Amino acid sequence: MKVRKAVIPVAGLGTRFLPASKAIPKEMLTVVDRPTIQYIVEEAVASGIEEIILVTSEGKSAIENHFDYDFELDTVLQMKKKDKMAEELNHISNLIDIVSVRQKKPLGLGHAIWSTRNVVGNEPFVVLLGDDLVLSKEPCCLQMLSLFDEVHESIVAIQRVPMDQTGQYGIVEGQQYKERTYKVEKMIEKPAHGTTSSDMAIIGRYILQPDIFPLLEETEPGHGGEIQLTDALLKLAEKRGMYAYEFEGVRFDAGDKLGYLKAIIAFGIRHPELGDDFRKYIKDVAAGLEL
Ligand code: G1P
Repeated sequence: MKVRKAVIPVAGLGTRFLPASKAIPKEMLTVVDRPTIQYIVEEAVASGIEEIILVTSEGKSAIENHFDYDFELDTVLQMKKKDKMAEELNHISNLIDIVSVRQKKPLGLGHAIWSTRNVVGNEPFVVLLGDDLVLSKEPCCLQMLSLFDEVHESIVAIQRVPMDQTGQYGIVEGQQYKERTYKVEKMIEKPAHGTTSSDMAIIGRYILQPDIFPLLEETEPGHGGEIQLTDALLKLAEKRGMYAYEFEGVRFDAGDKLGYLKAIIAFGIRHPELGDDFRKYIKDVAAGLEL
């Protein structure tokens, strides 16, 4: 069955990014020349997804506006003969159909995904977390969809992390199935130090079978008192199987201040217009020549 829909939870308060995220959603913070949420939506579009479901909360309307058509702005840009910019803005508003669902209580990622059950319906879907930007030749989501075509079961994207960082992630334990792919046996959300020997950390890309919804419904609050997606995923893995896929590419935690700076550098030096000058500037800074 073709995977058509992608869920992007954006309801979080962004407390890790205060004060920057006080009055604007953290998803609207810019990496080079576009907000981080645009990279996420573009990854979904480049992977063949046809509809985006945003899980929002109060104060997140800037995200919906960013992907909407702005008649007034378009008219002004055309009058001023700024055709290229008008074209780029129209490209953004024509990217894909976006619908929003409100997460009515901040009960965690699992609850945010559960809030989309009626809009997703009975079909497999992708989840992309807005904090995780992935730089790769082939979009991370597309890599996972190719595997999904083969295994027809839920998939979580993983990366190896240093053992002293496992407590920051959902951790997967399992047996190798083939290159870069593992059959999931166990999952633990943010394990306490010493409770796992696995370094396979879940990053914010999932393909889920709709069976996850009833499992989410019966999931009790877990780590941090929140309804954890990872806890429901373990039940799904036990019920019908799940794979962990070590994607090709580099992931940036753009919800973290240092991760965000790293993303700006990585995306900046690859920017078609600014990349060469920016690369040179960074070399100069590193050599102590420029500030
Ligand atoms: C969430 C998930 C966690 C995953 C992480 C990836 O945690 O709960 O399993 O490893 O995203 O970014 P959060 O970072 O929202 O605390």
